[in-house]
Amino acid sequence: MASADQLKALLKSHIDGDDGHFYAVAMQMAAHEAKLGHGKLAEELRALIDSAKAQSVPSTNGKRATPIIQPRGEMAGLLDASYPKARLSEMVLEKTTEQHLQRLIKEQRHFSKITAHGLTPRRKILLVGKPGTGKTLTASVLAGELGVPLFVVRLDALITKFMGETAAKLRQIFDAISSVRGVYFFDEFDALGAQRGFVNDVGEIRRVLNSFLQMLERDESNSVIIAATNHPQALDYALFRRFDDVIEYGLPTSPQIIDVLKFKLSSFKITKPAWNNLAQIAEGLSHAELTRAVQDAIKDAVIHDRDSLTNTDLKKMLEERQAMKQHQIFNLES
Ligand SMILES: Nc1ncnc2c1ncn2[C@@H]1O[C@H](COP(=O)(O)OP(=O)(O)O)[C@@H](O)[C@H]1O
Ligand SMILES: [Mg+2]
Repeated sequence: MASADQLKALLKSHIDGDDGHFYAVAMQMAAHEAKLGHGKLAEELRALIDSAKAQSVPSTNGKRATPIIQPRGEMAGLLDASYPKARLSEMVLEKTTEQHLQRLIKEQRHFSKITAHGLTPRRKILLVGKPGTGKTLTASVLAGELGVPLFVVRLDALITKFMGETAAKLRQIFDAISSVRGVYFFDEFDALGAQRGFVNDVGEIRRVLNSFLQMLERDESNSVIIAATNHPQALDYALFRRFDDVIEYGLPTSPQIIDVLKFKLSSFKITKPAWNNLAQIAEGLSHAELTRAVQDAIKDAVIHDRDSLTNTDLKKMLEERQAMKQHQIFNLES
């Protein structure tokens, strides 16, 4: 029999996606069996290893890339696929926002229990809020927590000047939604309702948004559909009811600012931080801007071979972000 250590090593290398190590351990196990006089078992193991090797895709670093279901053909231009590892615990959120997300994750995890009772787990959500407050990150987090791929819908490719074409592409996306389970993210979804620069006819614009909403309403798949917008005022309140949840994202409060700073600094030291003072300086900055300020401060320290930050270092970068905000004509955060 294989030793406990061999079994553990085998499982671990599989979990890590380390094919090289996986085969090495498997070969050791075959050799071990041969030594014990289990010639037939050893042969069978070697044959299994050989055929597995023949099927696996060669890789340069010996590690298997995460098997991503890559959209093919026309879909490849419309959806960007990835397997995010993001977790809810890395987000700083309003309590109610966190509860909404937790409920969705729980309902998704107990999908079959809920459907067995003739009910539908929540899975269509609208995220509303200022840039840099975590809407895109939320899409990654939900995919990460549920262990399913994230498909970001490329609105630039979806929206063409031909209305019929746009509708046909939208249909293809909804076909994908029902055939491959995943988190599907329509970012800046309000653009569907306002095809700036393309069409002037308001009636036509409404039609695209309406067909999206109809498809959304009819969709009975087990994928999660997320729409996000920075401009809720561009949307009709009537459409909010097509979603299971409308979740609002706001700028961080003082305690949240401190949480974001501490979290983003977790891998780097800061000496004598005056958190309350830093929070005051950072008031009005988004989570993304806070993140950038911390990253800039760390980069600056690293460049100067310093292994910790001072309060002044961070203060300077936060002030710089505030100044940038004042001068911003267009908000380029996304
Ligand atoms: N609520 C949050 N908690 C922690 N970090 C955040 C949060 N929101 C944004 N960030 C940081 O800012 C980056 C950009 O945020 P993003 O999700 O793209 O914002 P949005 O889509 O709302 O414009 C994230 O990748 C993350 O590093
Ligand atoms: Mg975004």
